[in-house]
This record gives sequence, C-alpha cells and structure tokens, in this order.
Amino acid sequence: MIQYDEKTGVFHLRNEQMSYVLQVVRGRYLMHRYWGRPLRAFRDSRPFQQIDRAFSPQPAAYENERTFSLDVLPQEYPSYGHTDYRIPAYEVRLKDGTTTTELFYKSYEIQQGKPALPGLPASYAEDNEAETLLIHLEDSKGKLAVCLSYTIFAGTNVIARSTKIENSGTEALELLNAASFALDLPDHDYDRINLWGGHASERNMERVPLMHGIEESASRRGASSHQTSPFLALLRRDAGETQGDVYGFALVWSGEFSLKTEVEQFGTTRVVGGINPFEFRWHLEPGESFQTPEALLVYSPEGLNGMSQSFHEVVRHHIVRGKYRDVVRPILVNNWEATYFDFDDAKMDNLAACAKDLGIELLVLDDGWFGKREDDNSSLGDWVVNTGKLKEGLQGVAESAHKRGLKFGLWFEPEMVSVDSDLYRAHPDWGLKAPSYPVSFGRHQLVLDLSRADVRDYIVDSVCKILDTAPIDYVKWDFNRHLTDAFSAKLPPERQGEVRTRFVLGLYDVLERITQSHPDVLFESCSGGGGRFDAGMLYYMPQTWTSDDTDAICRFSIQSGTSLVFPPITMGAHVSVTPNHQVGRVTPMQTRAFAAMMGCYGYEMDITRMSEEEKAEVRSHIALYKKIRPTMQLGRFYRLLTPFSGTGNETAWEFVSRDGQEIVLIYFKTLATPATELRTLKLEQLDAAAEYEVTSYSPARGLSHDGAGNRSLSLEGKSFYGDELMYSGIEVPKIDTDFAAYMWVFERK
Ligand code: GLA
Repeated sequence: MIQYDEKTGVFHLRNEQMSYVLQVVRGRYLMHRYWGRPLRAFRDSRPFQQIDRAFSPQPAAYENERTFSLDVLPQEYPSYGHTDYRIPAYEVRLKDGTTTTELFYKSYEIQQGKPALPGLPASYAEDNEAETLLIHLEDSKGKLAVCLSYTIFAGTNVIARSTKIENSGTEALELLNAASFALDLPDHDYDRINLWGGHASERNMERVPLMHGIEESASRRGASSHQTSPFLALLRRDAGETQGDVYGFALVWSGEFSLKTEVEQFGTTRVVGGINPFEFRWHLEPGESFQTPEALLVYSPEGLNGMSQSFHEVVRHHIVRGKYRDVVRPILVNNWEATYFDFDDAKMDNLAACAKDLGIELLVLDDGWFGKREDDNSSLGDWVVNTGKLKEGLQGVAESAHKRGLKFGLWFEPEMVSVDSDLYRAHPDWGLKAPSYPVSFGRHQLVLDLSRADVRDYIVDSVCKILDTAPIDYVKWDFNRHLTDAFSAKLPPERQGEVRTRFVLGLYDVLERITQSHPDVLFESCSGGGGRFDAGMLYYMPQTWTSDDTDAICRFSIQSGTSLVFPPITMGAHVSVTPNHQVGRVTPMQTRAFAAMMGCYGYEMDITRMSEEEKAEVRSHIALYKKIRPTMQLGRFYRLLTPFSGTGNETAWEFVSRDGQEIVLIYFKTLATPATELRTLKLEQLDAAAEYEVTSYSPARGLSHDGAGNRSLSLEGKSFYGDELMYSGIEVPKIDTDFAAYMWVFERK
C-alpha cells in the first residue's frame, strides 16, 4: 500500500479507494502532491510551477533563485519564519527567544499495521489491515526532531495522521503549537461544512463557500464541546449527499481543538488541525517529546454519504474497542426525566417492573444517588451511596433490577467536585483555579485537576470501588461544565500552559484504567448530552448520549448532523414524554420511537405513568426494534433527506444490514403542508438484480388519528427489484398530520 521511489523522492500511499502522494523536493522539503482517486502511478504530470512571485522570499540556500519560495509550495508540515507566511503546523520558542526553525527531510520507515500512540486514543489495526509510513524531519540546526505518521487502511478511504515533536537540542524549549496534520490542496473551489451547536442543540450542519483568508472551527472550552465539533469537510461546490468529491477531517481528541483553512493569494487551500494553539504551551527539556493527537482524513468521491461511510467504518472497526464493539446494545430506561433527583428504592423498583413488562433490558439510575445530593448544588466527588434514598445501597437497587431480569446501570460525573462536598473540604487545591483570582463556577462545581496523579488515583479508586462492590453492568460517565481558571497547584509556572492539554491526557489515563479493568461494563459517555461526542471518547466508551434534547423533531437534525462522522451505534437516543421537557412539544409516540430507533434505543420518561394503550404501543415498538436492531446498529447507514437540505421539513434515513438482507427506511415529515408535493424516496446501495419484499410497513400515526387513510399506499407484501427501488423509488402517502413518521422494512428474497 505504501511505495517509495528513491529517484523521484515520491511516497505513494494507495489502496483501491484512493492515493495520497508526498514528495521530498530538493532532498529537503516534504511537499504534498496529490490526494484523491487512486492513481496507477504518480509521474508528476503537474510539476511545480516555479514563478517569481513578488513578496515571496527565498530560503537562505536559494538566495539567487527568485522562483523558489516556500510561500507558494504545497507542504505537509510547514514552519513559519522561513519564507512561508501561511498558517504553520508548529511553532516553538527556543531558549534565546528565537521562533524561527526549519524542518528538513531526514529519513523514512514503513511499518505493517498501526503503532499505538502512548497515552492517547488512536486508530488501531491488525498488521494485514494497515500500513504506516513514518517520515523523520530534523531542524537544520538540530534543535528539533519531528516524526510524521501516516497510516493507510486496506479497503477504506481513510488516512490517519499524527506528529511527534522532540527537543533534540541541548537546551529547553517551548512548544507553542503542534498541529496533528497540515495539508495543501491545489485550489479553493470548495464549500466548507462544519458542525455548530449549543447545549441541547448539538451538531447542526452549516455549509458555506470557502472564503479567502483564514477560517477556523475551534473550541477553547477544555472539551470538544457542544458548540463546535472536531470535524471539518471541504466539498466541491456541486457535491451533495451521494455524489462529488469531499475531504473530511476529524480529530481523535476530546479537548480544545482548532481546524483551520487558509485560502491564500494564489488560490490554494491549506488545512491545519489539532490541539488549539490558543493558550497551549508545552515545555520540552532536551530529549523530551510531545505526541499530538491523531487526525482522521477521509477522501470521498461519493459525496457526504461516502465520507460518512468511511468515518463510520474507521470509528466502528478501528477506534471503538472492547466487548461491545460489534454487538447490539441493550434497550434501556433511564430515570433522569422520570424522577430527576426525587427517587427511592420503591420508585426504582416500579420502574424496573414496568420496564421488564415492556421488554426493556437495562435500568439506569442517573444523577442523585450519592452524598447528600438533592439537586445539582452538592456532593460531586463524594461517591458514597445516599442510604436515605436507597436503603439497601447500590447493591440493593442493582440486585432488585437483576432479580427482575434487567441489567443495571449507574451515572457518575467523576471529573468534578462540588464546592459543597467532603472531597472539596479535604482537598481545596484539587479543583482547577487561578491562585489569586476568584474562581468561576458552573453548576456550583469545579473541574478537578486531572493533570495530578493523586487526583486521578482518587477517581480511579472511588469509581472502581463502586463497580467492584455492586453488580453494575453499565456506566453513564458525565461531564457537566467546561474548564475555566485552568491553573494547576502542582505544576511550575513554565508548565501552566500545559494544564488544559494535561487535563485531557489525565482523563484518558483514568478512562483507560477504569475501562480496561472493567471490560464487562458497557460505558456511555456524556457531557450535558453531546458536549464531548468525539472519536477520542469513543475509543474508551463505545456510545455517547447524543443530546440532552430528547424532542424527536430536534433529534432529526442533531442525529443527522452527528451521523456525518459517527455511526448510529455510537448515539444514545431515547423516547421521552410529551409535552417534551426541553421544548414543550407534543408529538406522537411513534414519531418519538422511530427517531430514537436510529441510535442506541431507550426510554427517558416515567414509563409507570403511561396508559395501557400507550404501553401496548411501546411493547410493539420494542418488539419491532428488537427485530431490526442488528440492521439499525450494525448495518450501514445512509441519509436520504436531512433537515439541513431542501425546506428542512423532511428527514429520511436508510439502514442496510451487513449482509444486505434487510433494509429499514424511515421517513419523517415535520409539519403537514397543504397542496403538498409528493415525496419519492429512492433507496441507496441495494443490489439492482435482487428482489426485495416489503415485510412491514408502519404508516404515520397522528396525535388525533391513526393514519388509517394513509394505508391506501401500503406496499406490504409486495416485492420489487433493487433497481426499481433505487431508480424509480417509492412514494410516501400524502400526509395530513404534523410530526409524521413512516417505516418500511424490506427483506431481500
Ligand atoms: C447531564 C446529562 C443528563 C443528566 C444530568 C444529570 O445534563 O446530560 O442526561 O444525566 O446531567 O445531572
């Protein structure tokens, strides 16, 4: 998969899907040459144009060659200060204050498989699944040694990149910026997509023409955040869901990040991404090194769905680990929106009894079971059960769930300390806070200083103690405020710029220790919903609570946006009560259920208060879901319509089982419209020559009627060839109710 031609200095990373080409130019400079559809060979049909560009100076060795400037050459890991004025990939400050260094090519290695990145989440692969190119660069004065890592996977359109920077000099230096990757594309004829949001409104897709100058998606919050996601896509102006060239970039990192594009004066585009250099400093003594997080780079000639397929593949098979990677996840009921902090043994047991009756498989006890926590003002850090609420302790509530034939799960928020807690009273210096300024609060809590080994040990010990003493099958790991006042009482002044990065590295250490020592526990991460939905967290915990907004209509966009990068099996999605607690909307149960079936399904409502009629409907949804769950969770996923396209009024998702035998198609129309256009849905990725039978059809159920009029177009029992379903499509019946949801299940004959 990786070839090197010594004569031309060309590295060619190639699989059946794509080629990625680098070249060492003049024996020194590592240039980017090509990334796109696979090439048989790269023979330089597009040599560098060497043009004398005014105000683009020459590096020292080329003083008399006015056509040679780094300012106009496509590079793979550019430095600043030696004739390139664009965004650099790294910056350092040497002991004497110099910030100008220059990196020259030194050597390369090719390894089978994928080396791990110590202390960091990263993609992994068997030796026969991937090949890795390591390119060593060195500073011309020997101050730095840099290793660029490129992994190409067999059968997927993904390159994993990361960088290691070592102080190879004799004096300490400051690393001011260390991008995971940089890349120069030869033109700028792209739209740019990023995912913006807020708490309870995560990952809305925004598509805008790429502009000249620098544009950035970034977090400064100490977490990947609700507000932006560590993801960026550049796509050709005519590219859409199923066609056109797309380049996607996602970081395997849960902290603050930056993904920048720069369209420069001559119309080329630089992309640079990694830890946000804002506030980042890393002190390197001679011989010390810094390893950046990994970036996943996807090329898709088949539009956004093609890009998502590649991200889903790499996340499912090369990021997510452990026992639950390839198995369907349990249907759960979580007591949060059912009881909030007001629960006891009896309420939990009632929930368990009702859950069992409905077919639910896992009971989750959310916030409020520890210390003296009656609201969000106290007790984080005091991981001791509140026997006022749970008389028999966690053991009691877990065992009674087990007795009823359910698994049992528990909520934690271990990275935090409430000011009103025994932990804070004993260790006031364990929270992040600046020494001489008043501290800022979020939910009356501080973020613990995870750069400290003693704090990490406390978290690991207290969480493991609970997991080891009560029979707990599932953990929801929450993180409910962002970093402020990021100062560590343990680090010297010259290392304070490391705190925000060390916090995330500390978190990874804690997660590795807890998840590896409890391989049977299913972990779901959460941060006020989807505030830390990233590939870094998924390396440790195979699913994430997608949003605190449980309204089905809002979930159309939240889940569609999340699916740009992450597969449905990673998304927690629950049915909640109406009127909905976040937006007050009243929607049919079927719509709420079909929206939640896209992810790891569950209920987040007081199921004991449902009418018998509602319970019967829930039983039928659960029975249906159990049947189609392998397709929904383990199959392939395609967006046919999203709220980000057209009028925003329709959403359609298609799920295809791994073996291609079962297809599930779900369609939602948010508001009914008069004089409406009829909607044809053309299915994706079927076998044109195979016959598919419609084995189940669920017409829309309105709030006030059951959609009986819509049954007229039922295709149930009929069979069609794949080509007809893909090219002619099926028509959605005319809809006369708001918040309509339809489902068709097809079986290949
Ligand atoms: C966060 C989570 C919720 C719930 C609460 C508990 O907001 O996202 O699901 O667990 O915390 O305080």
